[in-house]
Amino acid sequence: MRKKIALIGGGQIGQIQAMLAAQRELGDVVILDIPDLENRVKGKALDLMEMAPHGNYDANLTGTSNYQDIAGADVVIITAGMPRKPGMSREDLLSTNIGIIKPIAENVKKVVPKAFCIIVTNPLDAMVYVFHKVTGFPKNQVCGMAGALDTARWRSFIAMELGVSVEDVSGTVLGGHGPTMVPLPRLTTVGGVPLTEIMDPLTVKKVVTRTREAGTEIVKLLGNGSAFFSPSWSSIVMAESYLKDKKRIITCAALCEGEYGIHGLFIGVPARIGSGGVEKIYEIKLNGEEKASLAQTVEAVKKTVSECQI
Ligand code: NAI
Ligand code: 2OP
Repeated sequence: MRKKIALIGGGQIGQIQAMLAAQRELGDVVILDIPDLENRVKGKALDLMEMAPHGNYDANLTGTSNYQDIAGADVVIITAGMPRKPGMSREDLLSTNIGIIKPIAENVKKVVPKAFCIIVTNPLDAMVYVFHKVTGFPKNQVCGMAGALDTARWRSFIAMELGVSVEDVSGTVLGGHGPTMVPLPRLTTVGGVPLTEIMDPLTVKKVVTRTREAGTEIVKLLGNGSAFFSPSWSSIVMAESYLKDKKRIITCAALCEGEYGIHGLFIGVPARIGSGGVEKIYEIKLNGEEKASLAQTVEAVKKTVSECQI
């Protein structure tokens, strides 16, 4: 039997996730949106069914606004909520998106209590926290997508600066999904060569800043809405690692209970994702400067979470 992927929110990101999940034959896909947009997601799903002969995939794609249709889903990915407009921070979305995430969490808990859940909605670290509080799901069953995207951006910018293949750039970005995130130049390599040996410190600094502001750079360029191609891929690789038990190490917002000295917060840390969900968090030995940056991002996430009043 095929696996089943439920996408809650069929907007910019949801529709691309549906396409990627189908193209990679991860399973059947149900796109769920609000009743007013039910026909729209039905239309998107049908369009993707009609793309299958050229896309060479076998997958059933459907659209709905009824939670009963996601019953049996192995993975739930949530993008429901408002995206940013120019001039808005992710935190400006807090109250609107809490109001959207809470009832979704209650429905997911009722209909698919065993599904692996990936939250994408912003402000990311707070929305995962709220989702986890409302569902009460085990911590391995819930995570947020941000580190995968922030790391992809970090790798892309390095490859662009050096004029090398992005495939050879390896590294990670820890922390909250916002301007305090912590790219780690010291631990980044390019084809096995330490980044700090082949990129001058000023350029490294420039790339760190660009990574931290990457979401905002796209929001400004688009003029309406936020990035959608790269966030879609980033969340689908997490779903794939779970569904195929690939055990990839992907930085994601996972619940830290002592790791990195962080207690009770979802925040970006490298984690192994396999059939057990978030199976393990890896702790990196950080130097003083990195620890100080991590402490700053933890404070930023704590502040947003405290505003959730949950
Ligand atoms: P979008 O506006 O294109 O799509 C959101 C969809 O959610 C809409 O179709 C809307 O009708 C739907 N929706 C709203 N309330 C719903 C509900 N109660 N149930 C089901 N569906 C509902 O937005 P887009 O671009 O897809 O972004 C989605 C979210 O992802 C935003 O909050 C955005 O800020 C966030 N985001 C997060 C990233 C990350 O790295 N974590 C990266 C990029 C965006
Ligand atoms: C991004 O980083 C807005 O969180 C969104 O693109």
